[in-house]
Amino acid sequence: MLRLVKAISNKEEEMFMVKLDNKVAIVTGAASGMGREVATRLSTLGAKVAAIDMNNEKGNEVVEEIKAAGREAIFLQANVTDPQEVKNYVEETIAHFGQVDLFYNNAGIVGSSAMTAEISDSQISDTININLKGVLYGLKYVIQAMEKSGGGAIVNTASGAGLEGTPSLIAYGSSKHGVVGATKTAALEYADKNIRINAIAPGSIKTPMIENIDPKQQKEIEVSIPIKRQGTVTEIADLVVYLLGDEASYITGAVIPIDGGYTA
Ligand SMILES: NC(=O)c1ccc[n+]([C@@H]2O[C@H](COP(=O)([O-])OP(=O)(O)OC[C@H]3O[C@@H](n4cnc5c(N)ncnc54)[C@H](O)[C@@H]3O)[C@@H](O)[C@H]2O)c1
Repeated sequence: MLRLVKAISNKEEEMFMVKLDNKVAIVTGAASGMGREVATRLSTLGAKVAAIDMNNEKGNEVVEEIKAAGREAIFLQANVTDPQEVKNYVEETIAHFGQVDLFYNNAGIVGSSAMTAEISDSQISDTININLKGVLYGLKYVIQAMEKSGGGAIVNTASGAGLEGTPSLIAYGSSKHGVVGATKTAALEYADKNIRINAIAPGSIKTPMIENIDPKQQKEIEVSIPIKRQGTVTEIADLVVYLLGDEASYITGAVIPIDGGYTA
């Protein structure tokens, strides 16, 4: 009897375990935080991973870790603000692994906070170039490849700041609202072409991006979250791999908050 229960529970575990054997994934912002965790998780689930980042040292470190665990990965240094570099990372991934099935379009910066009348012009252009144009170039070149190969799944990283106003983060909030718009637009365009496109809208997640904020402000953030803590990159990876996997086959154009109830 016990053996039977165990067999059933193993079967259930298997049913709910996302399987990505022979899939090829591109992850941007893979050197740190959410991108790093998702790249590693995708590889443990069987995907071959092209890790993209501007940060050569940390990006290579992630790939070495993945390879040391016996999985396949390559690091491609690229600045997502440059369309030619985005085109190159897609082409190099295909040259190396033959195709692109999964795309986590995630690289981004938050920038320093400033009221709208005080924000510097360079802060506006840097934030829009990385967070919005970088995502649009990624969508463009990856979708071209997925159309040729017959389909795929994409997750963009938006933010709670893409769902509601965030004072002192005008450029960031605008860029992330843009990511939400891009997700819905592209999802509709490619829904009948076997390419699913969704976004996650994280609240405050413990990554190097947030860890730089001073401890007093961190405490204030935690108190303001209904679940009373910041999220983890593990929780982000759980959602991203689900959305990239076949288990999410009827989900496209969705923007899913992952924020401890903050935007509820
Ligand atoms: N941490 C949070 O609380 C939070 C909340 C909401 C949304 N986000 C979003 O999540 C995404 C990942 O953030 P994170 O917290 O993991 O940050 P992170 O700083 O830990 O990682 C971001 C990575 O993106 C890379 N990157 C930045 N600009 C780049 C460029 N031009 N070209 C290539 N790579 C570049 C960085 O080198 C870094 O490795 C971002 O889009 C961010 O806006 C984060």
